[in-house]
Amino acid sequence: MESCLFSVVSSSPEETIALGEHIATLLHKGSVVALRGGLGTGKTWLAKGIARGLGVTEEVTSPTYTIISEYDGHLPFYHIDAYRLHGDNDFAAIGADDTLYGNGVTVIEWSERVAQSIPDTALTIEIAILENAHRLITVKEATA
Ligand SMILES: Nc1ncnc2c1ncn2[C@@H]1O[C@H](COP(=O)(O)OP(=O)(O)OP(=O)(O)O)[C@@H](O)[C@H]1O
Ligand SMILES: [Mg+2]
Repeated sequence: MESCLFSVVSSSPEETIALGEHIATLLHKGSVVALRGGLGTGKTWLAKGIARGLGVTEEVTSPTYTIISEYDGHLPFYHIDAYRLHGDNDFAAIGADDTLYGNGVTVIEWSERVAQSIPDTALTIEIAILENAHRLITVKEATA
């Protein structure tokens, strides 16, 4: 089961970054953030904000091709894009499970593609496109 923590409307990429920085204050060693939405909804912008909130100074770019990127912050920051993966076996094969249960914070874009691998304790964030570049961003936590 999931319960909604909060839901906000972002009206620009900058606001989405600021929300990511706020979300980072809820995270700790071992936290997993599962990002859902469609193509181009703003998952990577949100990940940039979370990284900034975790003290990452290096520029965070989409891990579309690298699949997993690792950055140094107050905690190790792992940014995964599951878009090009074919399910949970693929996810395990690239060693992603190790990051989930490691010492850092992991943010996964397209988490629905590897749904079985997402821990019950993950924060799940859904982004929906509204009119005029607005985004409805809903943060949920699993209560199972
Ligand atoms: N409020 C907003 N928040 C975030 N991005 C926005 C917003 N309004 C417009 N955008 C635009 O939407 C796009 C979001 O791009 P981004 O790469 O973050 O999406 P994504 O969900 O990671 O896409 P992909 O599925 O390709 O990984 C950017 O072009 C950005 O400028
Ligand atoms: Mg992206």
